[in-house]
Amino acid sequence: MRTPMMAGNWKMNKTIAEAVELARSIRAQVEGFSSVERVLCPAFVCLPAVAEALQGSTIALGAQNMHWADSGAYTGEVSGPMLQGLVSHVIIGHSERRQYFAETDETVNQKIHAALRHGLTPIVCVGESLAQNEAGETHEFVGGQVRAALAGLEAEQVQRIIIAYEPIWAIGTGKAATAEQAQAICGGTVRATLAELYGDPVAQQVRVLYGGSTNQNNIREIMEQPDIDGALIGGASLQADNYSNMVRIT
Ligand code: G3P
Repeated sequence: MRTPMMAGNWKMNKTIAEAVELARSIRAQVEGFSSVERVLCPAFVCLPAVAEALQGSTIALGAQNMHWADSGAYTGEVSGPMLQGLVSHVIIGHSERRQYFAETDETVNQKIHAALRHGLTPIVCVGESLAQNEAGETHEFVGGQVRAALAGLEAEQVQRIIIAYEPIWAIGTGKAATAEQAQAICGGTVRATLAELYGDPVAQQVRVLYGGSTNQNNIREIMEQPDIDGALIGGASLQADNYSNMVRIT
């Protein structure tokens, strides 16, 4: 049985004070829902203050990115050792980083290795563009992203990873994939590729999330899908009530 997860990716939103207020409001609503793994991922500068606000809570804290090197001349970057002890999860390979910050399948793989090396749980993002979707290339493209992301990883390591399928055309658009579309890729592509690479027992242990315009109104149908274990939530996670209702429904 895979534990469901509701992870909020706050992106470049909320000042430190706003992030603390949001975290407190969410904590007040969903602290008791320990059957659902709740993860909040604020911007780097907010992490220490939000960690304090979540002190003693069952809600986990995550980062939105990390560098693959442990230290060095990488101006503006944040390393695994800096995050260790502060966060438990880290989003890696989000499509916005691939689009705007030259993130590649290779750097995603390097970052996954680094995250695991530092005891962090990677939430690895994969997903196709609208053009690829319309051209019927989703299965091949997303399967290739999964393979590249997991290069060089042993089965024991893969079991510690979470994969989030986020079709780019559904992110921030208000047009979520249908539950059937999401299931087809989460199950038929992501989990199937895991089974091909590591065998079915390992594939059945890995949690696969869906992300892209999820909210309190569509999460129920999405979570009814057999191969979807949760959501990586953007806009809706910035609204305490919306995110909390998604946890309650899950
Ligand atoms: O990482 C989650 C994010 O990309 C989804 O954003 O606003 O479509 O829920 P949103």
